[in-house]
Amino acid sequence: MPPLALQLRSVSKRYPGMLAVDAVDFDVRPGEVHALLGENGAGKSTLVSLIAGSFSDYTGEVLIGGEAVTLHTPAAAKALGIEMIHQELSLAPPLSLAENLLAGRLPVNQGFVDRRALRDEAARLLSLVGLDLNPDTLVEEISQPQAQLVEIAKALGNRPKILIMDEPTSSLSREEVAQLFRLVKELRASGLAVIYISHHLPELAEIADRVTVMRDGKKVNTLEMADASPERLVEMMVGGAATALYPHRHRVHGAERLRVEDLSRIGFFHDVSLTVRAGEIVGIGGLSGAGRSELARSICRIDPIDRGRIEIDGAPSRAKSYGQAIREGFAYLTEDRKSQGLALRLSVADNILGGVIGRHSRFGAYSPQRGRGIVHDMIAALQVQPPDAAREVGGFSGGNQQKVLLAKWLATKPKILILDEPTRGVDVAAKAVIHQAIAEAAEQGVAVLLISSDLPELVGLSDKVLILRKGRLIGRLNKDDCSGQAVLLAANGQGALSPV
Ligand SMILES: Nc1ncnc2c1ncn2[C@@H]1O[C@H](COP(=O)(O)OP(=O)(O)OP(=O)(O)O)[C@@H](O)[C@H]1O
Ligand SMILES: [Mg+2]
Repeated sequence: MPPLALQLRSVSKRYPGMLAVDAVDFDVRPGEVHALLGENGAGKSTLVSLIAGSFSDYTGEVLIGGEAVTLHTPAAAKALGIEMIHQELSLAPPLSLAENLLAGRLPVNQGFVDRRALRDEAARLLSLVGLDLNPDTLVEEISQPQAQLVEIAKALGNRPKILIMDEPTSSLSREEVAQLFRLVKELRASGLAVIYISHHLPELAEIADRVTVMRDGKKVNTLEMADASPERLVEMMVGGAATALYPHRHRVHGAERLRVEDLSRIGFFHDVSLTVRAGEIVGIGGLSGAGRSELARSICRIDPIDRGRIEIDGAPSRAKSYGQAIREGFAYLTEDRKSQGLALRLSVADNILGGVIGRHSRFGAYSPQRGRGIVHDMIAALQVQPPDAAREVGGFSGGNQQKVLLAKWLATKPKILILDEPTRGVDVAAKAVIHQAIAEAAEQGVAVLLISSDLPELVGLSDKVLILRKGRLIGRLNKDDCSGQAVLLAANGQGALSPV
């Protein structure tokens, strides 16, 4: 047996007042994909950050290739062949892809950066991850999924022995995931050890050799992936039998709140007409690239509209900017919580109230006391963990950040709530909490438009699902004939649909 690529013995890491990783034993073999699984806040990101050298105050023993090492700085971890792709991306937007890919090791010739060598090496790394982009492109010009792949290319440039991926697929389409998996399998065959964090069980079944489940900072167990059924994994994660998802709720639909007529944004979506009533949750199904987010963003005036009309509560919506739309009662939960949703250096309270103040400042309905009440209620309703309003949002686990983002928009008491991938990066238990909050908002009369690639979620929450294909609404699936399979078929242009 070759030595283990990595071995942790009784490793712990404490944040002030919180033991995030508690005496964990964990190992990875060369040429293995080892998955880490656990509920939001279980300690997965903390454990891998520790391996990547983020903490100088961990306890326990770490061995790499059989040798004891200390991982007190990121530089020390890199020198030992450890590369991490973070849950939140870390590229510098104003710089070129080449400069980002080779940051810290720019090729130099006679004292000057060797532009030619820089471009060649960058082009090689981009092709490794299947990206056909010019190395001189600026990071700010590429899409979020492309940035994710660039991040991976950057890590590979350092020829790592151990590669850590923390939810790498959370913003990738199916095709992009397939591309990433081909790459990971090649890397594995060449002897790389991969630590892979994801909440997506089917993905793990495809890519992982072993899986370690964490709960409350502790390791529950390590299994061969072949022996790990989804039921068994969920039980290990939550420490008991899983609860029923999507209880059917009976809601009364009230008056029409949102009407969209012949809305077009050239090149993105065309002649879209739909209505959503108070208390109704209307799903939008479609493949990635069909124009779902673009439609949502234009309805909220984040992006422009070329033609068409929008009405709110029976009157024309005249908002010219997102800020004005928010004041009219629109809210959009972005699919990209870091760059468009949350201010990570601000507290939970400031993030939640950011939206409320924007909406109500003109009406004078806001007071600090009322603000504190809103924050308290939202933290309780969404079970934000830990329930600490004063803490910086950046210090929360990914799933809890997502809850804060939803809280921010619910707190504005919107009339129309548009949700774009509301449970991305969220574990099964937290998902149930978020679903409950969405259903409750609808019960209180909010008109909800839901975009989700999680088919059970889309089908389970929606009263009906409209199918967007290549920028056009092609039909409707009613609650009774709506299934994940039906949505997928329709999104691919097959199967029978009712008219919108
Ligand atoms: N910078 C920090 N300061 C203080 N506490 C933190 C910090 N980062 C994380 N924590 C806490 O440590 C615990 C473990 O968080 P961690 O981010 O490791 O969870 P996770 O398993 O990655 O969750 P998720 O699936 O939501 O990403 C959580 O209770 C979290 O609130
Ligand atoms: Mg995490």
